[in-house]
Amino acid sequence: MSAALSSQPAIAETVDALRAIVRGYRAEGETVALVPTMGALHEGHLQLVREGRKSADRVIATIFVNPTQFGPNEDFARYPRDQEGDLAKLASAGANAVFLPTVAVMYPPGFATTVTVSGVSEGLCGAFRPGHFAGVATVVTKLLLQALPDAALFGEKDYQQLQVIKRFARDLDIPVSIRGVPTVREADGLALSSRNAYLTSAERAVAPRLHGLLVEIAEKLRAGEDAAPLLAAGMDRLREAGFGPVQYLAFVDAETLAPLDRAERPGRLLVAAYLGKTRLIDNIPVAPQGA
Ligand code: PAJ
Repeated sequence: MSAALSSQPAIAETVDALRAIVRGYRAEGETVALVPTMGALHEGHLQLVREGRKSADRVIATIFVNPTQFGPNEDFARYPRDQEGDLAKLASAGANAVFLPTVAVMYPPGFATTVTVSGVSEGLCGAFRPGHFAGVATVVTKLLLQALPDAALFGEKDYQQLQVIKRFARDLDIPVSIRGVPTVREADGLALSSRNAYLTSAERAVAPRLHGLLVEIAEKLRAGEDAAPLLAAGMDRLREAGFGPVQYLAFVDAETLAPLDRAERPGRLLVAAYLGKTRLIDNIPVAPQGA
């Protein structure tokens, strides 16, 4: 590992400190990529940092467990937190700086603004997690405006989130290029997620079936089969495997997320299902027939 890769990232805890770091980079003529996270970092997050380093001179990661994107019965309080471990991982992945705001920095007294995105926010996870994407859109808008990077990187793992972020960045003329990065998976196909830590060993053995099923259905869609019966049978198979509730298994337009009947244009197959107490999501691309 080179000295540059192993050096400790600069830490900012306030917006002024973050902006001073960015100003320093800009003064050197350097480009900046931003990687927002909620910490409990794994290889998926680190891949975003590495991709950021390929396209920008400097990468700034942010760690903030954003309370406004968690519902009242969700896991905000028990969301895994490991700041020391995260900083070591970010250093080894080559992050140059880390922004670690507190809730008071992001939402000072009197805070009264919410960014809501209609259309792409509404179905899929949006239907089961009211307010979630407004929380994401609000915090990501703030992070983008605080750092004003050239690019910001997000995982396709949270595919609807990525489309929501692309939508409001375009709608609000935020001058940052929003880049999606393919999902990083375990060898057995399970998408890496901070929430995988909640799975028991028996659940962990079943969890890769989620991705396996998506791959099987995608092949049939590419072969020209209708989506509706494949999706209905797929939901049954997930329940038989031990998932439940299965919130959705959907085939949608890759950009607008509107339902598709068959693979006639670029599509995305997405799923959300509980396994025990853990909510898992996954998705894969489905190229149009003949593509
Ligand atoms: P978090 O769940 O920590 O994820 C941070 C980033 O890592 C997101 O862009 C997410 O899509 C990406 N990511 C997670 N697992 C991945 C995987 N297996 N492969 C590739 N990328 C992966 O998503 C959030 O935080 C928050 O909603 C946030 C955008 C930070 C706003 O609070």
